[in-house]
Amino acid sequence: MNDTEIRDLPKKHGEIEKKSMEIGFSMPSDLYVGTMLKTLVSSKPSANILELGTGVGLSLSWLVDGMGRDANLITIDNDPELVAIATHFFGHDKRIKIVCADASDWIKNYVGKRFDMIFADAWPGKYVQINETLDLVKVGGFYVIDDMTAQLNWPEGHQNHVDRLITFLENREDFNITKLNWSTGLIIAVRKS
Ligand SMILES: C[S@@+](CC[C@H](N)C(=O)[O-])C[C@H]1O[C@@H](n2cnc3c(N)ncnc32)[C@H](O)[C@@H]1O
Repeated sequence: MNDTEIRDLPKKHGEIEKKSMEIGFSMPSDLYVGTMLKTLVSSKPSANILELGTGVGLSLSWLVDGMGRDANLITIDNDPELVAIATHFFGHDKRIKIVCADASDWIKNYVGKRFDMIFADAWPGKYVQINETLDLVKVGGFYVIDDMTAQLNWPEGHQNHVDRLITFLENREDFNITKLNWSTGLIIAVRKS
């Protein structure tokens, strides 16, 4: 396949990206993971979705584009400035709850329905509270992470965290996983039991 151009950008994506550059947000998700999130979410029209690491809302814009009318989404970030930006763009949507909190605390204290999809894009949910986060995935639900491919700007020692996480996921007998050397390096896991 030669044509991998992305033509279905979410309506708000351009504006959010502009804001992201304005404030110098340095951790945006790329477009490829966005398309993947949208595609996976649209497989479950009434999905209950969790995003850890809202940022300015770039990945959120893709998730929202894939959501059905009866879907719900909770997204968490601990940076009030970023939460305010995401709220500006998505706060009016009754299906979406944007929470300013430490995601580790939030995960530990969450009592409620399990999720059809978790996009873990912050330290919690990937490198800490991984068991608690995977416990929140429904049978048949997706757990998705990106940024698994080594980057020049990674701090010393980060590769070890990534390697440990990959081995941990590979050894989970209750999940099927696919490792994709694409975008920033994705793992898609589905709970099987
Ligand atoms: C990689 S960025 C997320 C990018 C976002 N998904 C997007 O597409 O714009 C990681 C985010 O996690 C947030 N974060 C870091 N530590 C956190 C924590 N302990 N609890 C909640 N959010 C955290 C950061 O503020 C940052 O916005």
